[in-house]
Amino acid sequence: MKEYLKETENLYKEAALSPDVGLCCTTSPVWQLPELSIPGIMLEMNYGCGSTVHPRDLINNPKVLYIGIGGGMELLQFAYFSRKKEAVIGIDIVDEMLEKCQQNMMLAEKQNHWFEKEFVSLRKGDALNLPVDDNSIDVAAQNCLFNIFKLDDLKLAIQEMYRVLKPHGRLVLSDPISEDEIPENLRKDDRLRAMCLTGSITLREYIKILTDSGFGTIEVRAKRPYRILDSMNFDTVKNIYIESVEICAIKDPIPDDGPCVFTGKAAIYFGSEDLFDDQKGHVLLKNQPISICDKTAAALGNLKRDDIFISESTFFYDGGGCC
Ligand SMILES: C[S@@+](CC[C@H](N)C(=O)[O-])C[C@H]1O[C@@H](n2cnc3c(N)ncnc32)[C@H](O)[C@@H]1O
Repeated sequence: MKEYLKETENLYKEAALSPDVGLCCTTSPVWQLPELSIPGIMLEMNYGCGSTVHPRDLINNPKVLYIGIGGGMELLQFAYFSRKKEAVIGIDIVDEMLEKCQQNMMLAEKQNHWFEKEFVSLRKGDALNLPVDDNSIDVAAQNCLFNIFKLDDLKLAIQEMYRVLKPHGRLVLSDPISEDEIPENLRKDDRLRAMCLTGSITLREYIKILTDSGFGTIEVRAKRPYRILDSMNFDTVKNIYIESVEICAIKDPIPDDGPCVFTGKAAIYFGSEDLFDDQKGHVLLKNQPISICDKTAAALGNLKRDDIFISESTFFYDGGGCC
């Protein structure tokens, strides 16, 4: 096995045996939902960097797959929406993490009258070779795991998610990214990489891997500050800024003119007519902002009209719009 993957397993074995509250800084508030009580130990073992649980992905009793389980907080949150035996499958490569998570599920059962531990099925497995059938999953999630993988393994992990998803299924992920250059010495530090600090790639590179794997629709739902690798504490000359991003990649076919990538851009038509119709399926009602994918933003921009405003990416796309 590759050295850095061994180091990753060791780190998370330690993190299962002695919870480490600061291991991965979560930068978003934990979902509070009616009658959901999250055991304290799950909060202490929240090793994620955002959220992958979004009610709008969880309609029609989806079969959920969650890779890299940690203390199980997000598994419990997913089970909140499905409430059915084995509707949520959790996979992890570290035995100690699987055991700890199972214990946490028993605590969660005591604290939540609606929850049965059988709602979540925990299995040993590797993100790089999932023990899951093709086209069998509606929502596949990972939070703060894939950034650890080196490029070839990252591509493989994403291809595995694509393989197990049903057509139109969703990969929801939260992961660190960085637009700054991370020096090779830090990238090669297996411990720092396993701690989700030095494996990040740029958002553009991440999105390209998703679309190259076949996902036809990409939604960038949130982007937040995550960490600074500073020159006093890390072997770097310049400070390095790391952000965390939440993305939903949908297994839609890729349109002939390329994937639809929503990064939070919007168009506003403010001309003299009631609406603007580009005759390609995009109708802009006067003074009503409409979310547009980056492809449509470029096409509308190329029209060079002075009555259509196109916003910058907000990296906060919450549904609707063109395409
Ligand atoms: C940073 S933690 C994130 C935990 C959880 N997603 C959360 O948000 O709290 C990474 C998790 O992935 C697991 N893991 C590490 N390598 C893995 C692999 N190759 N396949 C599956 N799980 C892995 C670790 O044991 C750990 O539970």
